[in-house]
Amino acid sequence: MRAAELEAVFAEFGGYEAQARAGELLLGLGFPVEQHQQPMQEISPGWKLRVLLAQALFSRPDVLLLDEPTNNLDINTIRWLENILNQYDSTMIVISHDRHFLNSVCTHMADLDYGTLQVVPGNYDDYMLAAAQARERAAAANARAKEKIGELQDFVRRFAANKSKARQATSRQKQIEKLKSGAIALKPSSRQNPFIRFEQKKKLHRLAVEMEHVTKSYDNLKVIRDFSVMVEAGDKIGIIGANGVGKTTLLKMLAQVLEPSHGLVKWAENADCGYMAQDVSPEFEKNMNLTEWVERFAQEGDDDQAIRGTLGRLLFGSDDITKQVSVCSGGEKNRLVYGRLMLGRHNVLLLDEPTNHLDMESIESLQYALEKFEGTVFVVSHDREFISGVATRIFEVSETGITDYRGTYDEYLDSLGLNA
Ligand SMILES: Nc1ncnc2c1ncn2[C@@H]1O[C@H](COP(=O)(O)OP(=O)(O)OP(=O)(O)O)[C@@H](O)[C@H]1O
Ligand SMILES: [Mg+2]
Repeated sequence: MRAAELEAVFAEFGGYEAQARAGELLLGLGFPVEQHQQPMQEISPGWKLRVLLAQALFSRPDVLLLDEPTNNLDINTIRWLENILNQYDSTMIVISHDRHFLNSVCTHMADLDYGTLQVVPGNYDDYMLAAAQARERAAAANARAKEKIGELQDFVRRFAANKSKARQATSRQKQIEKLKSGAIALKPSSRQNPFIRFEQKKKLHRLAVEMEHVTKSYDNLKVIRDFSVMVEAGDKIGIIGANGVGKTTLLKMLAQVLEPSHGLVKWAENADCGYMAQDVSPEFEKNMNLTEWVERFAQEGDDDQAIRGTLGRLLFGSDDITKQVSVCSGGEKNRLVYGRLMLGRHNVLLLDEPTNHLDMESIESLQYALEKFEGTVFVVSHDREFISGVATRIFEVSETGITDYRGTYDEYLDSLGLNA
């Protein structure tokens, strides 16, 4: 009897479909069926994140809280997640810096600024538009009020001493005060954009790098197969592809921190590469404060002022610069790495997922800096807006090889018939 009751409860809660649903979710997240019974310990860190995501989605909760769910996920998985979330009726609160994701998933934006949370209907683009329009309206209203105040003040000045007009003058004075108190405060946002600019000491001409029949294997795993390419100075290459396909491996060989198993990577004689790894934390396992950390990358002619200026542009104030680097947040560490790269004045930048951990303002600044940069760029990213803005050429890494497309990301998607 008891067992029968329990069985009914079990069925009611979807116990019989549980395994199938878990399997479906795992498949959607890219786990092949053979891996579904694998112990968690054997899964690489990027993929553990996906299991956690599946866990959160599995119970079909009434409220779903997601903190930066798209970090480290590749574009196809982000697209899958967007679709899944759009099918859920749950209330969701999502923290994200992925503009494309916010636009496709969210119905409301909550903007936290000056400690006040403001919730407005619409997706991210709607929100940006509405915020800009609200500022314009407020500025116009303030301008009208200012003009009116000027006219009233004129009147008061002329007639204040005139007894017969004294009452009118007093009433106008009151109007002035009312207008002044009604002025809409136009505080600039507390969020700030760091100022990032990459200059180059020496300009490269023509060919920047040539890869000849490059192959890379780890033990039995062949990651890059016989890849040959020529890259001109000034090319900005967006490297895209699924998790674990070999993007970091390719970039490490370009940065010469990893040797190809076969083949050659030949840089131009004057090439000077600045490299940012996917995980920057090993650079910060040091007993140093921010100033000491950055100082080491100063070039001839960079005095203390230049160092402080660099830190200031990256939004580190006088309170921060004596802080130990080991306690910095993910975003702060990334900003320090941009400081290193700015001071280095390299003519080639090799960046592995540089927008992970960054807030929207920093992503915008970095995107702008890379658009303006006159040198050569190789950047790995899963951020569609970012890649669209920066890249002039795309390498798509896949299990079958590397596709080299000369054009922007949007043109690449068009060429595949994928651009909606
Ligand atoms: N040192 C290593 N020893 C053995 N295998 C490795 C090593 N480094 C990477 N791999 C494997 O090589 C493959 C490619 O890894 P890589 O880090 O280049 O991928 P990725 O495209 O950068 O992935 P992600 O998008 O997750 O950053 C993966 O299967 C990875 O597990
Ligand atoms: Mg990688």
